[in-house]
Amino acid sequence: MTATPLLGNNLTSWMPESASTLAPRVDAAYSLMLAFTSLVFLVLVGSAIFFVIKYRYRGLPQVTSAGSGSLLLHLSWALIPGIMLVLMFQRGLENYADATVAPGNAIDVQVNVDEDGLHYDIVPSSVKADELVVPLNQPVKLTIHGGDAAKTFAIPAFRTSASTNETGVATLWFEATQAGEFDLWCTAGCSDDLIVSQVSALGDDEYGTWLDNNAPGSDLPLPEYGKMVFAEQGCVACHSDTGDQAGKACPPLGGQFGTQRTFVDGSNATMDEAYVKESIFKPNAKLVKGFQPVMPAFEGRLRERQIDGLVAYIKSLK
Ligand code: HEC
Repeated sequence: MTATPLLGNNLTSWMPESASTLAPRVDAAYSLMLAFTSLVFLVLVGSAIFFVIKYRYRGLPQVTSAGSGSLLLHLSWALIPGIMLVLMFQRGLENYADATVAPGNAIDVQVNVDEDGLHYDIVPSSVKADELVVPLNQPVKLTIHGGDAAKTFAIPAFRTSASTNETGVATLWFEATQAGEFDLWCTAGCSDDLIVSQVSALGDDEYGTWLDNNAPGSDLPLPEYGKMVFAEQGCVACHSDTGDQAGKACPPLGGQFGTQRTFVDGSNATMDEAYVKESIFKPNAKLVKGFQPVMPAFEGRLRERQIDGLVAYIKSLK
């Protein structure tokens, strides 16, 4: 969805759509400031108009009263705006601190800027793309390498923006709360259009599919892809791909598919697809006899195609 710079997508709201965890908080701070400043404006301009009318010139001679100081008036004049300022400062500081410090578990996205636009490198999944796709409800941190000239980037729907520092790097983070496509602007320092890129926020399943389709090796047949994942995920450090343990402290995986496994508790099972998956997700559920429970659990750390690839690869090992 493309938003016009000053009006939101729908003309009933003067704000752009609100699609991140930060957005409602920034809007609330904005509304608070607008309310306070409007109040001060009305009181000032209202009393100015009132007094202009009340003390308008009605012919000489006129003497105004000497006036007697009012402590209450003085105090309220100092305290009420003072409290308003402190409240605005507090909201602003909270939001600023939140917007500045990304949560530790944020997905690391490195962004390079050149004349063709922005290029994204989603580090944890080794996916490189020219459009940014992010999962819903997960923090994402962009580290934008903006080059020499100072630049400012903003994602209005997420109410976040950042400028490059003296090393040419701008960082910003967000957590999308609404699926859709949102504009990423370069609001200063870029010669081209205001809208330079798009951010798509997808639900978990769709995001996983997008990663699968864009991950390196996505065009490989499953067993070959599995071989890549096997190396990438470090399985290769522990398991040999032949029938021989090859000096590694773990069961060899070559030629094992379809054979009978014996576990520490004396029970047995055939190595089929379900068993391989369980061994990867919950290695300690069935401990192979003669080995230690040292394998890390990969549950939640692998995408569907990665698992399918691993199973196909292990199946293919002779
Ligand atoms: C730190 C070493 C280590 C790493 C890394 C590791 N494993 Fe294991 N794995 C083991 C050990 C030890 C066992 C045997 C004990 C057990 O069953 O948990 C095992 C068991 C298995 C089994 C069952 C083998 C059998 O003979 O029944 C499979 C399948 C397996 N691992 C696959 C994988 C895959 C795939 C990966 C990578 C995603 C991986 N492992 C990463 C150490 C490791």
